[in-house]
Amino acid sequence: MKPKVYITRRIPNEIIQKLKEMCEVRMWNEEEEPVPREVLEKEIIDSDGLFCLITESIDKELLEKANQLKVVSNMAVGYNNIDIEVAKEKGITVTNTPGVLTETTADLTFALIMATSRRLIESSDYLKKGNWKTWSPMQLTGHDIYGSTLGIIGLGRIGESVARRARGFDMNVLYYNRSRKPDAEKELGLNYTDMDTLLEESDFVCIMTPYTTETKNLISQRELSLMKKTSILINTARGGIVDEAALYEALKIGTIWAAGLDVFEQEPVSLDHPLLTLPNVVVLPHIGSASIKTRMKMAELAADNLILALQSQTPKYVVV
Ligand code: NAP
Ligand code: GLV
Repeated sequence: MKPKVYITRRIPNEIIQKLKEMCEVRMWNEEEEPVPREVLEKEIIDSDGLFCLITESIDKELLEKANQLKVVSNMAVGYNNIDIEVAKEKGITVTNTPGVLTETTADLTFALIMATSRRLIESSDYLKKGNWKTWSPMQLTGHDIYGSTLGIIGLGRIGESVARRARGFDMNVLYYNRSRKPDAEKELGLNYTDMDTLLEESDFVCIMTPYTTETKNLISQRELSLMKKTSILINTARGGIVDEAALYEALKIGTIWAAGLDVFEQEPVSLDHPLLTLPNVVVLPHIGSASIKTRMKMAELAADNLILALQSQTPKYVVV
């Protein structure tokens, strides 16, 4: 008998076919609507494998309903949507998709650095709204990227790829990480600092840690107050790493100059969220890894992880 697999969103056909070769597949066949919780709670009961996205909360309550679940395969590198401890206790393997999305997410992080510093969205809106009457010396002026200081908090795969891009802009790169990375320091000319020094000296502060109990609200009022008035905060990691109320206040009163956000504490972010009212904030709907090639690679890797776990082999990327 084939193992039963539930897929929580419509994924590319070739991946579904691949899974169907060895599994009995059921799927939430929608692209823009997440699976309702009650459907997932029902489907999990007799599933052997779950292929899920970051939009699903794979919490204790859900995992306790699973009678025969062997593997949860997250189509993402971040896995803060999954209760890892409970999965471990229940002997359920959890897998993720690191690596294949590193460069694409680093590109998007750099896009936010450029969009915020040179006011790209604001300038485009200015033109489209008919405000462009003439060229003028200080019109829509921003800050240089070239020659500035970039501070990366969390120098993992994506953080390092952002640092590599920064070299092309002759940036001075500082980093703060849980552990020091001497090889990256040597290869990329990075300088390790404590977090407060990084916040004080950087023109761009880029957050690239996972979202954990240690990184929740890592950037709050105190940290923002250490930053320069001209500096820019970029968050492409997870929304909960930044205290959004403190960020709003800092942007409003000019404690910092701008922010570029791909992620929010609650996603999708509510349209009446105060951060959305500020002209100095560039907001994106969590599209860090959203290139066609990369999303295909993520889906393929998530499927491979799932299949290997169901065959009692070691998946390529195991969280627990
Ligand atoms: P990674 O390689 O695991 O890098 C994470 C880095 O953060 C590691 O170097 C780690 O230090 C460091 N770190 C962890 N906890 C820390 C703490 N408390 N203080 C300081 N540093 C800490 O992960 P990655 O592949 O680069 O991905 C990073 C995160 O980006 C993911 O977890 C995900 O949430 C987010 N992401 C977002 C998107 C998007 O679409 N916006 C796409 C991909 C990923 P050690 O070296 O000591 O472990
Ligand atoms: C996306 O946010 C991921 O963690 O892959």
